[in-house]
Amino acid sequence: MSWKTLAATGLLVSLAAAPVSAQDYPTKPVTVIVPFAAGGPTDVAARIYGEFFSRTLGQQFVVENAAGAGGTTGALRASRATPDGYTIFVHNVAPHVAGPALYPSATYDPVKNFEPIGTLAFAAHYIVVNKNFKANNLKEFIDFAKANPGKINYGSAGGGSATHLACVLFGQQAGIELTHVPYRGTGPALNDLVAGTLDLMCDQGLNMMGQATAGTVKVLAVAQKTRFPGLPNVPTSAEAGLPGFEVSAATAMYAIAGTPAPVVARLAQTMAAAYKDPGVRKRIEDLASELPGPGQDTPQALGQFTRSEMERLGAAIKKGNVKAQ
Ligand code: MLT
Repeated sequence: MSWKTLAATGLLVSLAAAPVSAQDYPTKPVTVIVPFAAGGPTDVAARIYGEFFSRTLGQQFVVENAAGAGGTTGALRASRATPDGYTIFVHNVAPHVAGPALYPSATYDPVKNFEPIGTLAFAAHYIVVNKNFKANNLKEFIDFAKANPGKINYGSAGGGSATHLACVLFGQQAGIELTHVPYRGTGPALNDLVAGTLDLMCDQGLNMMGQATAGTVKVLAVAQKTRFPGLPNVPTSAEAGLPGFEVSAATAMYAIAGTPAPVVARLAQTMAAAYKDPGVRKRIEDLASELPGPGQDTPQALGQFTRSEMERLGAAIKKGNVKAQ
């Protein structure tokens, strides 16, 4: 039978669409799109899990940083990738779902265009200032900011990123006016905080833990109910005088919608195994972050969380009139 006849009978088409079995996947390297610059929290979490996936599945999971526009450049690119399991996406849930509400160019649907695989880490945000900043605690910082409206600048991973939204919330709850400086990721923003160009970041432990323990930045508070044992002298927001300021970022892995079910299942099984791996667990926990607990550790739980965050943040963006810049 010739190729022409094959095509005419539709056999060629059905061969091309033959179902992929979980055992067949992966047979070549997998690209992991990270929509922020290298060295930041999303990149760090993607690489920690990527190493485990490479080791377990026998093919390299290669991170590609596609940064820009608060993560929406990479999200758009991922949403258009071939859904065959050879492109997957690691993003922070907040900017993932907030992107289309903030950027007209972000013409992807955070729920419909992606298939949830699992949450990599939940990371509390920290109020971090450059080490020469005049304030030595949160109260002094807020007093200084009130006396100098708009004069304090903060760096984020771009409009709508987790670090942007956390500082918007911080400013609202503390009653202070701060000036936003967007970057392509919190990795480069942290470099400028250490260099002294920036005053403030509302950063995740996944990013700034090394600088915090080295004393190259000052950490004024953690925005959660309990102190992190690795930074025992950093007070909680309530202890520091700002009760109720609690913000956590969730970094998650998605396949592209339309990826064959056996491939999605293989990725989800590998994620479940990663949660049990002592090496992955230690590396995430040492960076002041938590792995998902019972009830949070399934693709279904991530799907539900993605949908509820989309509603919650969409409403907050409208109400607070939050802009991308
Ligand atoms: C964010 O702020 O949304 C991200 O964590 C930024 C990053 O990974 O660089």
